[in-house]
Amino acid sequence: MKQLFASVLEIAAEEDASISDEVLRASADLARVLQPDGKRELPMMKKFRFQLLYAWMVEHVAPCRVADIGGGKGLMAYLLQQSRWQASVIDPVNQALPAKYKDLATGKQVHIDPSASVPRLDHPFIAEMATDFDLLIALHAHGCNILMIDAAAEHRRRVILLPCCIIDEPLIPTAGVHWLQCVADYAKSRGFTVEPFRLNFKGQNIGLYLVPQ
Ligand SMILES: C[S@@+](CC[C@H](N)C(=O)[O-])C[C@H]1O[C@@H](n2cnc3c(N)ncnc32)[C@H](O)[C@@H]1O
Repeated sequence: MKQLFASVLEIAAEEDASISDEVLRASADLARVLQPDGKRELPMMKKFRFQLLYAWMVEHVAPCRVADIGGGKGLMAYLLQQSRWQASVIDPVNQALPAKYKDLATGKQVHIDPSASVPRLDHPFIAEMATDFDLLIALHAHGCNILMIDAAAEHRRRVILLPCCIIDEPLIPTAGVHWLQCVADYAKSRGFTVEPFRLNFKGQNIGLYLVPQ
């Protein structure tokens, strides 16, 4: 049992890291995030994943009712609210918004009013919650990815996933199949088109935009 637990943790640690170009090249779905000349457009940043996903969403998706599943402190929802999205957090652990964040466009620190808040459901995500939203997002929300795909398939909602590790997920990839590919394959089997994208932060930075067909 101890050995099984250790190997699950090993797989999880490996899957949480950034994904090699070799793995991406081997996948018809994921290879689309690679630049044709093999170069990256921008140097990788160490952090700022919320700001980078927010910027991607504002550029690619029209404002709608969005739930950030496993949204932690709620910075993603806060940023989206500033751009007139109806954004909520669903996360069983209630945390306050951060006091400040860096605006990547200006390079300046922006202070968040201590009285500011975002709508929150302090509860683990369940499928019925999808009915109140047009789009579900999950940034490194382990244990929620397959559940979100099932919920979105049932209620015909869109999903943006940046899956990290397989801990607490009900699917185990077959040998040689990367967890991200496994999630993409599962989404396709549930009737979604899969649009992969890559953000410029270190770690698992590949997102899957899932749209019901
Ligand atoms: C690794 S953290 C990621 C938080 C944030 N998205 C980020 O990128 O920093 C995972 C989050 O998922 C939340 N979580 C765990 N199980 C959950 C569930 N069943 N439904 C919703 N959120 C859950 C945890 O409370 C935690 O805030």
